[in-house]
Parts: sequence; C-alpha cells; structure tokens
Amino acid sequence: MSLNQQIESWLASRKKSFQLTNRPFITLAFAQAWDGSITTSKGESVALSCSASNQLTHQLRSLHEGILVGIETVLSDDPQLTVREWAGNNPQPIVLDSRLRMPPESNLHHHPDKKCWVLTVENAEASATPEDLAHEIIQVSRHKHDFVPLLPAMSLLREKGIESLMVEGGAKVITEFLKLGLADAVVMTMAPKFLGGYKAVGDLGITDIALVPHISPISYDKLGEDLIVWGDLKYRGKYSEPEK
Ligand SMILES: NC(=O)c1ccc[n+]([C@@H]2O[C@H](COP(=O)([O-])OP(=O)(O)OC[C@H]3O[C@@H](n4cnc5c(N)ncnc54)[C@H](OP(=O)(O)O)[C@@H]3O)[C@@H](O)[C@H]2O)c1
Repeated sequence: MSLNQQIESWLASRKKSFQLTNRPFITLAFAQAWDGSITTSKGESVALSCSASNQLTHQLRSLHEGILVGIETVLSDDPQLTVREWAGNNPQPIVLDSRLRMPPESNLHHHPDKKCWVLTVENAEASATPEDLAHEIIQVSRHKHDFVPLLPAMSLLREKGIESLMVEGGAKVITEFLKLGLADAVVMTMAPKFLGGYKAVGDLGITDIALVPHISPISYDKLGEDLIVWGDLKYRGKYSEPEK
C-alpha cells in the first residue's frame, strides 16, 4: 500500500470511530523543518515541502469537510486552500479572525465553489458592510476572550455540518488546538532542512512531561525528499479554554 493509501485508510478508520457529536474530527496537518520551524520568521511565507508532500496535503484537504487557518497565515501566505493537485472536492475554507482583517483581495475571496467562513468574536468591528463581503461572518460569543474561543467555535462548525476539519496552521492556531486537547490526529511533513525559525508549537503551559500531548501509535515513511509522520493525538492532562 502506498503512503497516500495508508494515510487515507487510517484517517477513514479514525473518522469512523470518532464518537463526539459536539465538534468535528480534527486533524492537524503542517510542514516543518527538522528543528520544528514552520517558516524562517513569523509572517514569512516559505515553501518547505517537496512536490509529493504538497500533493499529500491536497489529498488530505480532499478528505476533510472543512479546512481552517489563522488570519496571520492568510495575511502572509494568501492561501487558496483548494484541492488542485489531487482528485477530490474542495473543503469549506474557514479562517479564525477576531478583528476581521481578511483583505478583500485575498485568494479566499476568489474560491471556485465556496464562500469562505470567517469565525470571529461578537461585536468585532468590520471595515466593510456585510453585503460587501465575499465571505460569511460567523460570530462566536466572546466571553472573556480576545481570540475566537475554540470550543464553541468547533461546536458551531459541527452544527453547520462540518464533521471533519483539517487545521493547517499557523503556529498560534496549532498551539491553541493542542493546548485544548482539541486535535485528534496529526500529519507532519518533515522537510530535511534546519531553518532556525518560527516554531510550529509555542508554549503549551504544561510543565509535567507526563501530561504533554503525544502521538500514539506513530507511523512514518519517506515521501520524495521529506519524511511524513502521522498518528493519533493522545492527551492525559485537563484542558480548558484559557482566558486572554
Ligand atoms: N509550514 C506550514 O505548514 C505552515 C502552515 C501555515 C502557516 N505557516 C506560517 O505560519 C505563519 C503564521 O502563523 P502565526 O502563528 O503567526 O499565525 P496563525 O496561527 O496563522 O494566526 C493566528 C491569528 O489567528 C487569530 N485567532 C483568532 N482566534 C484564534 C484562536 N483561538 N487561536 C489562535 N489564533 C486565533 C489571531 O489573530 P486576531 O487576534 O487578529 O484574530 C491570531 O493572531 C506564517 O509565516 C505562515 O507562513 C506555515
């Protein structure tokens, strides 16, 4: 079985056995150098993966109903978040953007078949009126948070029919999903490079090594020049939405 087939069948079985009904099944998928950097410095756009790994990313997108990134990734990479290098449907693009900074010229406003969903907080100030917008704004109750609180946001996505979600980054978003024990699976592309740059995972606020999120069982294989590492994410600690 090829690596692409192995990952597809693993994901299918994980999604099938997923029992929660209050949020989607969530996969973290990102590319990093061997030192854990996802880019040279925050806000820089760097192509880390080889072409075969890029194709895998597009395959992964096609295997999820939604794809989510943080606004900083939109501002630095201007991603399309479509499936172009694999046969399959485009997932619903979703952006976490509490201050409604999505630029009108961004690629996500020119998606071939979906209107991007922008998850924001209640009372966020929009610079354009809703009828001008090429995206749909979904407000999440702010409580005491400045960021979009992820637990209610994930619950809203599930209510809107998103049963599986791929989270593509960047680092702040990956860190928040791990902090909350919200990601069920991970697929990492390890590019054989050292960047000494901006790392995929920031402070998780966990000091006891026994309580850190871990991958088990873990699988790996070479794809083109890269190493792909994938597996289920397990958590032993207690996680709750931090107040910012
Ligand atoms: N190698 C890879 O696979 C990969 C993938 C993606 C991105 N990247 C790189 O990563 C960098 C961007 O990453 P980043 O860490 O700066 O930003 P990010 O994770 O893309 O976006 C973070 C922003 O999202 C908004 N947000 C709203 N609610 C949030 C929540 N609950 N949790 C986290 N964020 C929330 C916040 O902005 P507001 O306060 O304005 O809402 C926050 O500052 C870029 O350089 C990009 O090239 C690399």
